[in-house]
Amino acid sequence: MRVIDTVKEMQETADKLRGEKRIGFVPTMGFLHEGHLALVRKARELADVTVASIFVNPIQFGPTEDLAKYPRDLDRDMKLLEQEKTDILFYPPYDEMYPKGYTTYVQVRGLEDYLCGQTRKGHFVGVATVVAKLFNMVKPHIAVFGQKDYQQLTIIERMVKDLNMDVRIIPYPTVREEGGLAMSSRNTYLSSAERQKALLIYASIKRLQELVKTGETDSLLLKEEARRLLASENGVNIEYVSISDPETLEEVDSVKDRAVYAVAVRIGKTRLIDNAMLGGGVT
Ligand code: PAF
Repeated sequence: MRVIDTVKEMQETADKLRGEKRIGFVPTMGFLHEGHLALVRKARELADVTVASIFVNPIQFGPTEDLAKYPRDLDRDMKLLEQEKTDILFYPPYDEMYPKGYTTYVQVRGLEDYLCGQTRKGHFVGVATVVAKLFNMVKPHIAVFGQKDYQQLTIIERMVKDLNMDVRIIPYPTVREEGGLAMSSRNTYLSSAERQKALLIYASIKRLQELVKTGETDSLLLKEEARRLLASENGVNIEYVSISDPETLEEVDSVKDRAVYAVAVRIGKTRLIDNAMLGGGVT
């Protein structure tokens, strides 16, 4: 695996490759887990050259969030990427991404206001900005994003469409641990008792899918049931429970066709998010 750490080298390499080969890209913030590796495998399946990036993007963290504490292990990440036959790791330092005088930001209006955007002000501007920059550096034909971060995926799809970016976004289903906890680098913060409580998130997904399958469509009632289940253990603090339109992310009154159930909770010091589709023949 070749490691590139400057924008110039990344762009020159991408220019040379792009004529003859399809470039598949997986942007990450490192501390890789099976969820990331599944995205790399998907990129490899769809492209000739696979590029992964590792960059813990400071501008998507709020002032009280876990930037300094964010887990990092480059050696382990490199081994895992090599095992997956990743061709290039792009690992730029901060100054390459945001050199002195940097002042341009990408805002996907509206979509950033819902769900996580309500408490993580500015987070999605940070995400859209770094992803746009990474696309300009890696020049991929396809880029794979996990559905676990549903709002992030929706915002990136919108940005690509609105800014006519020449890249196809491939959504990839959430990879779950045994018991259903969605894989996340932040799971490492959970104690074993907290991990047990976190299983309630998946239980709420299954319960709502079941209710919708048996004919329940009332969003209020469904959200109440999710809250009841999540609160059935002490120490699961609900940040939001939402049932929204899959494209606009606006809350819906009823699950007529398809809707997204999205949830954010805090367990101890750890913030966890998850989501799943309701309706539309989801089993
Ligand atoms: O999902 C992530 O890990 C990050 O938000 C991303 C897309 C790599 C941008 O920093």
